[in-house]
Amino acid sequence: MSAAHCFILSSFLAVSRWKVHAGSASLNPTVSHSIRSIYYNGLYNSETNDYDVALLKTSQPMGFSETLRPVCLPRTRQQFQSTGNCWISGWGHVSEGGQLSPVLREARVHLISSQICNQSTHYPGMISPRMLCAGYPDGKVDSCQGDSGGPLVCQEDGLWWQVGIVSWGEGCGRPNRPGVYTNITVLLDWVYHRLQLFEPVSCTYTYLLADERTKEAVLIDPVLETANRDAKLITDLGLKILYATNTHCHADHITGTGMLKKLLPGTKSVISKHSGAMADLHIQDGDEIQFGNFFLEARSTPGHTDGCLTYVLNDQSMAFTGDALLIRGCGRTDFQQGCPKTLYHSVHSKIFTLPDSCFLYPAHDYTGQTVTTVGEEKRLNPRLTKSEAEFANIMNNLNLKRPAQIDVAVPANLKCGIQD
Ligand SMILES: *[C@@H]1O[C@H](CO)[C@@H](O)[C@H](O)[C@H]1NC(C)=O
Ligand SMILES: *[C@@H]1O[C@H](CO)[C@@H](O)[C@H](O)[C@H]1NC(C)=O
Repeated sequence: MSAAHCFILSSFLAVSRWKVHAGSASLNPTVSHSIRSIYYNGLYNSETNDYDVALLKTSQPMGFSETLRPVCLPRTRQQFQSTGNCWISGWGHVSEGGQLSPVLREARVHLISSQICNQSTHYPGMISPRMLCAGYPDGKVDSCQGDSGGPLVCQEDGLWWQVGIVSWGEGCGRPNRPGVYTNITVLLDWVYHRLQLFEPVSCTYTYLLADERTKEAVLIDPVLETANRDAKLITDLGLKILYATNTHCHADHITGTGMLKKLLPGTKSVISKHSGAMADLHIQDGDEIQFGNFFLEARSTPGHTDGCLTYVLNDQSMAFTGDALLIRGCGRTDFQQGCPKTLYHSVHSKIFTLPDSCFLYPAHDYTGQTVTTVGEEKRLNPRLTKSEAEFANIMNNLNLKRPAQIDVAVPANLKCGIQD
């Protein structure tokens, strides 16, 4: 994660100009990683530094080690204590107009409320909702030129969270001119969109799979509200979408398949025969959805609803589990044709029998997790590692609220997402 202002010159967008050095405190480390792609926020404003966020994707996974650990993205609406354990770090100037530091330096800072920071005494009206301030009233400790794009992290609940990105400031360490950082919490949607196609109201993930050579593609679980986004992406990437498929008849959002059929004529909608919903193609356990040289195998995984399917890629390297299995959770079983016993059997016989290394991509996540594996869930899923009786007991006592959109979503989804 970095700052958009580091990439404003178009020549700076060439991936070959950049290397990622991770896990070392020296400015001249021995190991470096090349970059595959750079994304910066299209709303970035170079005059105000609003939306100052960018993401770099390395060509290869970096792999974690003793000195290289992941940091958490904040949860939606997570708040951090202003005098918490918050730190900035970088190789930037050690004082205003001073030298770069050859070794990584760190400093503890306090978070300063945007309301105060936006006042005439500090940065009058210059602090946008995408920014946050950190430092001290009398200055002295601050980030400085050369620290840009670096992290502001806070420790809370035993975890480190990346709360901000070094963005701008007037001078360095001046009184009442604290460092200004990009507020990551308000830009989580943008970040998740870069990692996965995400619809924030129902927290739904949509997946686009394509054969790079034949350009044939399949979309899994599109949402009505984000159908335009998906259609644009498919067009931008020069793909030809064959199928828009649903893992089941959703109760929490309206499917985007009907809209996609309008936006991209020729698209066929797909759903399970047992869902009771309309679609161009009804499939069942064992059926295959072909795209280019790949196919998705449909596995029937009922329990959340009767018509739940898990789609497994032909080489079993990844599977799309819908609401049957979620990351460290599972779909509820208390409405539509839900049944804990059925769900338990579905997951154990159809998903947990895949290789441990198989990546699992769920239809939803409410905390920003994006992917898990069969091995991880077999070991760590708090519900599905239990016995069938304990599982049923947990599921029958969740006392969840009805999904907010169920009364509109289910009837609409039975008709391919087209509302009258
Ligand atoms: C700071 O003030 C400006 C101008 O009044 C306003 O547009 C902006 O939203 C304010 N920032 C925050 C975080 O409230
Ligand atoms: C980031 O913005 C959100 C939304 O306005 C706000 O609630 C949160 O307190 C901000 N984070 C920090 C660390 O100031």
